[in-house]
Amino acid sequence: MSVYLLIIRQKKNQRTMKRVEKEIFLNQKAVVLWMTGLSGAGKTTLAENLEKELFARGYLAQILDGDNLRSGLNINLGFSESDREENIRRIAEVSKLFLDCGIICINSFISPTNKIRQMAREIIGSENFIEIFLNASLEVCETRDVKGLYKDARAGKIKSFTGIDSPYEIPENPDIEINSGELSEEESTAKCLAAILGRIAV
Ligand code: ADX
Repeated sequence: MSVYLLIIRQKKNQRTMKRVEKEIFLNQKAVVLWMTGLSGAGKTTLAENLEKELFARGYLAQILDGDNLRSGLNINLGFSESDREENIRRIAEVSKLFLDCGIICINSFISPTNKIRQMAREIIGSENFIEIFLNASLEVCETRDVKGLYKDARAGKIKSFTGIDSPYEIPENPDIEINSGELSEEESTAKCLAAILGRIAV
């Protein structure tokens, strides 16, 4: 008899499956990897690399990313302080659903202020929340300018752009700091992976 069938039989009076049972099913502990940093600091790239590396090791993860969430669930939100707060509040609530399903969340959002990140931590629960600061200077991000947004922000075509005319507060006490302005993509991924594998192994 499978271990799952055993669990079900023992839980006849339990109406829904619990997170811990889903974690046993998936053979992993769920956490939220919360990546914060300027636009262009490498959050999305790191998230994509991590997802693949985790998958290769048998871990199931889901990426939540500013660019894709803002084209759907958060399409009605802009970049004012209150809209950014609401953006992060919704993402944190969505992350909780994934946690309840035993799935690792890899979140990449600028999440520019301590207040916003603290709110996410509180909603998700500190024990589930791993804050990863992608530390690349404004100069590096602006020089890279992968999406051409810094150029538009400097030209005044985009208002309230983080790092230009909207603040980014350096995280005070991140769980992991990646100097993505100096490290290669591979080095950043390896450093992050080494720091999290112990947290997700059963
Ligand atoms: S957050 O501040 O609310 O956390 P989020 O991570 O969802 O931001 O979205 C950031 C992405 O939106 C950036 O990577 C960039 O592509 C795009 N963007 C468009 N306008 C802005 C802006 N004014 N400030 C920052 N990012 C912007």
